[in-house]
Amino acid sequence: MQTHEIRKRFLDHFVKAGHTEVPSASVILDDPNLLFVNAGMVQFVPYFLGQRTPPWNRAVSVQKCIRTPDIDEVGITTRHNTFFQMAGNFSFGDYFKKGAIEFAWTLLTNSVEQGGYGLDPEKLWATVYLDDDEAIGLWQDVAGLPPERIQRRGMADNYWSMGIPGPCGPSSEIYYDRGPEYGIEGGPEANEDRYIEIWNLVFMQNERGEGTSKENFEILGPLPRKNIDTGMGVERVACLLQDVDNVYETDLLRPVIDVIVAVAPRGYGQGNHSDDVRYRIIADHSRTAAIIIGDGISPGNEGRGYVLRRLLRRIIRAAKLLGVEQPIMAQLMDTVRDTMGPSYPELVSDFDRIQRIAIAEETAFNRTLASGSRLFDEAAATTKRSGKSTISGTDAFTLHDTYGFPLELTLEMAAEADLSVDEEGFRGLMAEQRRRAKADAAARKQAHSDLSAYRELVDTAPTEFTGFDELTTEARILGIFVDGKRVPVIGHGTHDADRVELVLDRSPFYAESGGQIADEGTITGAGASAAAKAAVTDVQKIAKTLWAHRINVESGEFVEGDTVVAAVDPRWRHGATQGHSGTHMVHAALRQVLGPNAVQAGSLNRPGYLRFDFNWQGGLSEDQRTQIEEVTNEAVEANFEVHSFTTDLEKAKSMGAMALFGEAYPDEVRVVEIGGPFSLELCGGTHVNSSAQIGPVTILGESSVGSGVRRVEAYVGLDSFRHLAKERALMAGLASSLKVPSEEVPARVANLVERLRAAEKELDKMRLANARAAAVNAAAGAEQVGKVHLVAQRMAGGMSAGDLRALVGDIKGRLSSEPSVVALIAEGDDDAVPYVVAVNPAAQDLGLSANDLVKQLGAQVNGRGGGKADLAQGSGKGAAGIDAALAALRAELGRS
Ligand code: ALA
Repeated sequence: MQTHEIRKRFLDHFVKAGHTEVPSASVILDDPNLLFVNAGMVQFVPYFLGQRTPPWNRAVSVQKCIRTPDIDEVGITTRHNTFFQMAGNFSFGDYFKKGAIEFAWTLLTNSVEQGGYGLDPEKLWATVYLDDDEAIGLWQDVAGLPPERIQRRGMADNYWSMGIPGPCGPSSEIYYDRGPEYGIEGGPEANEDRYIEIWNLVFMQNERGEGTSKENFEILGPLPRKNIDTGMGVERVACLLQDVDNVYETDLLRPVIDVIVAVAPRGYGQGNHSDDVRYRIIADHSRTAAIIIGDGISPGNEGRGYVLRRLLRRIIRAAKLLGVEQPIMAQLMDTVRDTMGPSYPELVSDFDRIQRIAIAEETAFNRTLASGSRLFDEAAATTKRSGKSTISGTDAFTLHDTYGFPLELTLEMAAEADLSVDEEGFRGLMAEQRRRAKADAAARKQAHSDLSAYRELVDTAPTEFTGFDELTTEARILGIFVDGKRVPVIGHGTHDADRVELVLDRSPFYAESGGQIADEGTITGAGASAAAKAAVTDVQKIAKTLWAHRINVESGEFVEGDTVVAAVDPRWRHGATQGHSGTHMVHAALRQVLGPNAVQAGSLNRPGYLRFDFNWQGGLSEDQRTQIEEVTNEAVEANFEVHSFTTDLEKAKSMGAMALFGEAYPDEVRVVEIGGPFSLELCGGTHVNSSAQIGPVTILGESSVGSGVRRVEAYVGLDSFRHLAKERALMAGLASSLKVPSEEVPARVANLVERLRAAEKELDKMRLANARAAAVNAAAGAEQVGKVHLVAQRMAGGMSAGDLRALVGDIKGRLSSEPSVVALIAEGDDDAVPYVVAVNPAAQDLGLSANDLVKQLGAQVNGRGGGKADLAQGSGKGAAGIDAALAALRAELGRS
């Protein structure tokens, strides 16, 4: 049965049983603790926790999931993928254990004709949490499972949570026995390769807090209702129903492997385990990378971007190790689109962008690999020259650390060059690096507040934002924190500035988000604590609804429960609105000029300044930059009305509102509109009332920030004016020192540059003429050394090898036909030492050769060179050896 059919049957089965089909969420949801969505239930967490009321009490979905912690295991075990599809049914306070077991059992065991998967009930096993007798009873009653095929397991296996605070509960897993050829008997407890897990039923009933492992976390208490969350591994079921022995052989992954089989010299399934693992890595990672890019991530050096970069680079390296020389990313992405597109249409509609980003990373990494290979060649040559046969651990480490070479690649290249690698040294350096990274991470953690102290406030008392309507708000202090610890009171001078945070019930301060940095202003006491005053230096969201105001207490004392007045600095806010609205304007202008492929990748704005990152290959032309600036300023000048409203997400999207790709938005969203269709964006930020308030927008420049991502930066408002005024002053300064009107400055500078070049040329000519004159003297002063006339001279600085050759020719022409040798050596530019040797026919008859002599000269100045018997040249480094070189030459000729 094809994978698409397995999905379809799952959805049909549960829709028939009263579940609402909910589309897969993006793999990126707005939870800083969760790198990627790793289970079907993630998008439903607020329903389980009782924070929001679910619109339905039964749902079904097939969710895109990413799990990367075991990335190094991919392909080694044959049942793990970094990307997989989790089919799940969910009950929000509706059916519980019995319903979950019944639904799962019937889908698995109903015949194919009945719409089921037709699995043999005799091969199914179940596990339950240690003391869950109720589940054991149900498996016997509902499914007729004999007690010997139900096993009890502990917390690590049968108590499920997302690995972070949130809903959790005991679980019951369903396993399929693949038969004795896959391992020993004894159920899942004995062997999870033979008994393969296909479905996990979680009886979601508690909420967990922080913890250190799967078995060690705090249970905060029961959830408001009992729920069901299940997850069936679509790929694993496909593996069973397609009768193949691992997930990489299933219909959606095998075609990706075949792309490489077609071009790689090393085959798949030919008995070389390492090669097979490489093939599986490519198949697995290609899918994962396409999905992650599809949901809006670009390769980068941190967080999600880094995971993506790592995946793409592992694909490229694996292909290299299989002997593939040509680029392969385009074809891999084509295949992922063809196989996965029917289930995930965004992979088709957004394909150009996805492929472009993947290819850009491939191109960039291939360049890195090429420089790494050069370093490797040098390291190999040095090793051989010094008579050793082992490449040092340091070199292997640099190759790994700087050029992304895995040790196995270095080992393989070394073997080809008949060398080995100091693996122990390499490992030592790696361990050291890991230790450093760990220490850094620990240090960062300490600097970061432990969020548990805020927890009670998160649950009970959200911060209400009043800043769209007013800049000054009376508020109550809900909590005071120092370094993440709650304290009842805070006074001037008791703590370092910038370590104190206030949480208020209401606040006009905008907390940093959506690229807009936080407002600045003051918080002052009211009533009894009127003497208290603090400057607000930053405002951050601890959770969506809980904002921490970082303050610097300037006088008096703040006490929890006090009433205070929170006031945003109006000048600051004015600047901030200019920056943020300016960003929307530049975004709109950019898309008008470059087209819809220029997709936003990030932005930052603060009073007076903005920057905007977007996906785009190659730099912008001068003309495009000017156009973007013009369109923006015309829209400013048009004085468009800015207006915001809330609506539901679908409606906003259908209006064409631009949303950050892959960002999770709530159902109700705020839309900011500038000039009707000119700019329409989902945005929670603060804005000007009409576009003319933004003031002039000056684009400062455009640059690259990683592969396929460009950045424009601009000034707005008064800062823009100040920037232009500074440029004008610069120009006036130039004009006055050049003594021409400003508009003539460019022509004047061009003219000066041209004259300078001509003068330099003239100077060169004169230098050569002088040198020639000197050569005449030199020829006259030839010394007799051994049997030859020798002219050996150290020339003045700045001469090139070409100059020397010309001179040597001159001098030779002036010597008699007696045996003679001319050798010139000069202090060239940048510490280079060029030298030329000529030997006339009579001297050659004595057995002398310019080619030999030039080597002798070179030996004293670390030089390399050569040529023929009559003329040879070379270049060395370090003028200090010049005299010794000439002396050595004399000595040699003296022996002739
Ligand atoms: N949420 C459960 C899991 O991921 C079903 O296994």
